[in-house]
Amino acid sequence: MDTLKGIKRSHYCGQLSEANIGQTVTVMGWVDVYRNLGSLIFVDLRDRYGKIQLSFDTDINKELFDKAASLRNEYVIAAVGEVVLRSAPNPKIPTGTIEIKVSELRILSKAETPPFEIKDETDVKDELRLKYRYLDLRRKPMHQNLVLRHKVAKIARDFYDENGFLEIETPILTKSTPEGARDYLVPSRIHHGKFYALPQSPQLYKQILMLSGMDRYFQIAKCFRDEDLRADRQPEFTQIDLEMSFVEIDDVIEVNERMIARVFKEVMGMDIQTPFMRMPYKEAMERFGSDKPDTRFGLEIVNISDIVADCGFGVFSGAVKDGSSVRAINIDGGAEKLSRKELDSLGEFVKTYRAKGLAWMVREESGVRSPIAKFLTEDEINAIFEKMGTKVGDTVVFVADKDKVVFDSLGALRCEIARRLDLIDKSKFNLLWVTEFPLLEYDEEEGRYVAMHHPFTSPMDEDIEFLETDPGRVRAKAYDIILNGCELGGGSIRIFNSQLQEKMFEVIGLDKEDAQARFGYLLEAFKYGTPPHGGMAYGLDRFVMLLCGAESIREVIAFPKVQNASELMTNSPDVVYDKQLEELGVKTIEEK
Ligand code: AMO
Ligand code: AMP
Repeated sequence: MDTLKGIKRSHYCGQLSEANIGQTVTVMGWVDVYRNLGSLIFVDLRDRYGKIQLSFDTDINKELFDKAASLRNEYVIAAVGEVVLRSAPNPKIPTGTIEIKVSELRILSKAETPPFEIKDETDVKDELRLKYRYLDLRRKPMHQNLVLRHKVAKIARDFYDENGFLEIETPILTKSTPEGARDYLVPSRIHHGKFYALPQSPQLYKQILMLSGMDRYFQIAKCFRDEDLRADRQPEFTQIDLEMSFVEIDDVIEVNERMIARVFKEVMGMDIQTPFMRMPYKEAMERFGSDKPDTRFGLEIVNISDIVADCGFGVFSGAVKDGSSVRAINIDGGAEKLSRKELDSLGEFVKTYRAKGLAWMVREESGVRSPIAKFLTEDEINAIFEKMGTKVGDTVVFVADKDKVVFDSLGALRCEIARRLDLIDKSKFNLLWVTEFPLLEYDEEEGRYVAMHHPFTSPMDEDIEFLETDPGRVRAKAYDIILNGCELGGGSIRIFNSQLQEKMFEVIGLDKEDAQARFGYLLEAFKYGTPPHGGMAYGLDRFVMLLCGAESIREVIAFPKVQNASELMTNSPDVVYDKQLEELGVKTIEEK
């Protein structure tokens, strides 16, 4: 095998242009395409920046030609030669008008035939792509995703630095943090029976840093949560995490709108209008059935309980009497766009969100077509059409149930309809803050209130008085930033008064000893002078995923985990030597 002795790369393949014609250049990379036409050999050479065609002519140099004939896909080579105009240009690639007439070829490394072809578009199964991730990452779209990720992280770092934020690292081997997912635990060799927890976020450390007078902190932080994977969720992910002292909600929002606008400007070349829209949680739920509404399309939810409270359709009137509600969505042109069969399949769809059914009405020229019309008076039907803005040719769909079920099912249904009818403008980036979240939510299973974000989130000043009397109505100084229906990030102003903190623990049924054992160090720290503070964290992976238009955060993480939380390339998690377990004082139980 050849070496690099005596040669040095002069150019990247993808950076050559007609300006280099006449120059002798040295390029290095992977054989992307190899074509032997008998007396001519063409090789497309690939590096991080793109591709360039190399040519070998048997009439010019037979020995060199024979060496080139031994090349195969994915061989790593270096080539020296003159840049010339190509006789048959390839308009598909940026360097398509030129090629290198090779005068020296070095074969640096051979390659076995890869298990799949390295090309931009791929239909290779994810499992195979991830097992051979190094090959998958050679594909241009993956390069582009990682470049974009690098840019977003760099812009965030520069932006926060310019705005007085200090980048401070916090421990990975730590104590359980309060984000509410299951912890990843690491057994201690020195303290048998004791475990570190990997941080679900740097939450308490960053609050402590505010107590230490750091004023503004940020970090690109690894977080670990042992929860079920989804397209936008990994057990190990990255946050852009920040915290600020002496601030209220508007201060945190203002800085972060500038940060987001800067990312859009520099990465996407887009001007994003600030300030972004803000929507209270209650409104988001009522109009979109979700605390992360996708506002790129309409299909808003409308409450029609008042109209059907006394109607002859028992499912509706009964629901209203029980304190449940009846809500509906108007589908523009639904009469043509949705067949009876499709309406039935939407009915099945809402059942997965625990709705009992999906009633529907089609407004036609001649009247109304609907299995429930016979139970309703003309006035009721007209009132529904009026409230929903239903025109001839539209379809209205209804769910009657407890608010939670109605919101969950119709919230998901509006997104499903938008997908099926192709109503989503993919070029749009709709940013919005959801604010005024409830501080607490009632956990039916546990029979008590739990913190909706984490227990350090401050209630709104005007709602503190209801903490004990009516906990469910207390709103939090919390905010989420939503991009196209995805929770990009979230945060809050924190409690900085120990008495209020104690009351909060009481309300969520965390007794003093428990609070002391879990968060004692923070409560202790609070005693020594605490500035009002607040902050937020973005999911960096999600941010990049949305900017790239990727379907899953796996596409923007170099080495992600699959559904069952394993990483296929390294095959982790894996068994370890008995000796290691012994040292750690850990015994494993055989799975039955
Ligand atoms: P939160 O738990 O809302 O807040 O997390 C902040 C953001 O991190 C992203 N995120 C995830 N991304 C990928 N995979 C996951 N499993 C995952 N979990 C969360 C989301 C989310 O909006 N300490 C608080 C922030 C604060 O209050 O300052 C926190 O961690 O984009
Ligand atoms: P039924 O009287 O059960 O045959 O239902 C008549 C129609 O109402 C069907 O289209 C059902 O899908 C629908 N339906 C049943 N229960 C509900 C509900 N809770 N909310 C909305 N529609 C329902």
